[in-house]
Amino acid sequence: MKPYIVAVFNQKGGISKTTTSTNLAVCLAAAGKSVVVVDLDSQGDSTKSLGIDPAIKKGIYDVFIGTAEVADVVVPTAFPNLRILPSTYNLAGIEIKLSELKDSQRTLVHILGKAGLDCDYVVIDCPPALGILPINALAAAHAVIIPVTATPYANDGLLRTLPSIKYVQEGLNKTLLLQGVLFTINDSNKTTRKINALIRSRLGGTVYRTEIPRDTMVIEAASARLPVCAYAPRSPAAQAHLDFAYEFMDRHLKTAAKAGSEVVVAPDARDQAITWLNHWREKHAMEMGRPTGERVRAGKARLDRMLYGDRTQMERFHLGLVHFFIDNRFWLAAFMLVTFAAVAALVGFGLSGMRMVAGALGFG
Ligand SMILES: Nc1ncnc2c1ncn2[C@@H]1O[C@H](COP(=O)(O)OP(=O)(O)O)[C@@H](O)[C@H]1O
Ligand SMILES: [Mg+2]
Repeated sequence: MKPYIVAVFNQKGGISKTTTSTNLAVCLAAAGKSVVVVDLDSQGDSTKSLGIDPAIKKGIYDVFIGTAEVADVVVPTAFPNLRILPSTYNLAGIEIKLSELKDSQRTLVHILGKAGLDCDYVVIDCPPALGILPINALAAAHAVIIPVTATPYANDGLLRTLPSIKYVQEGLNKTLLLQGVLFTINDSNKTTRKINALIRSRLGGTVYRTEIPRDTMVIEAASARLPVCAYAPRSPAAQAHLDFAYEFMDRHLKTAAKAGSEVVVAPDARDQAITWLNHWREKHAMEMGRPTGERVRAGKARLDRMLYGDRTQMERFHLGLVHFFIDNRFWLAAFMLVTFAAVAALVGFGLSGMRMVAGALGFG
């Protein structure tokens, strides 16, 4: 069986690439598909989140430099049907090693071609920026998913990411399909809705119907080293990730049918997938226990740093206030009215006070 290879890519960090990759992989496995995750980020977040310690001895780095075969490195995860080609910390030094190789941008194409992985899907979690690793991922993939987080504070990376994909489509991988853009860590305020609507109007059907809401359960799950779909399957973010996995498979089925390519078997029913996710939750989340408050707080602080950069609390408060008023015109009008009334009253008091003083001094 030849796997369908999908890269999860955006040049920006902190916009849920890893969360999307691991949850997609777990949901695909829950839907009866066999999956291999390839962790191309030296941070090893998806490796950790699938229960593997990135201090392990061998990983994808060793396969890249030719000292190991995929079969030596691929490991099972806590979930049946889901394996991973893990990342190790030394992957950070791969740029120099690969630049010494011939055809360095296609190394992963050759690796995956030779490995003949027996699975339905390979999900590649890319690091941020457009280095040699994401280029390898895009060269090897059939399709790419771009997660995007619309924030008024930070560039979502889409403007830099789309041209990079075009660059690969024009040269290295002419059949690479931009399967879709996924809105992640979605706030429900008016500003986010406007940014998302603008992107939808520009990209049309490329944007997935499903949007992943911002949900602190994702951070709690990451602190417990589990994808949220296996940690809290009923949480809004987990439900949305499951919807997304089905939308992804639906798009894949349609492109496969259009291309008249080999038969792609439909996934198991959603109810069946939910049964598996609940089962995994009982097995793993219960066993690991709730993460400490400190770890969850550290996770939240990390997300804040990524979304807001180095802005101080006061600057964030001002931005929050501005966006609150943009979203709630009624309160803006009420606030202005109250402010105006207060200023008028103060001026009134001031004038009558001055008159009284002037009267007392005999100037009246
Ligand atoms: N839907 C969500 N709601 C809240 N936090 C999220 C959500 N998705 C991801 N996060 C958090 O955002 C941070 C960045 O996500 P991550 O998947 O690591 O991004 P990337 O791989 O693009 O750097 C992590 O702390 C993660 O737990
Ligand atoms: Mg990541």
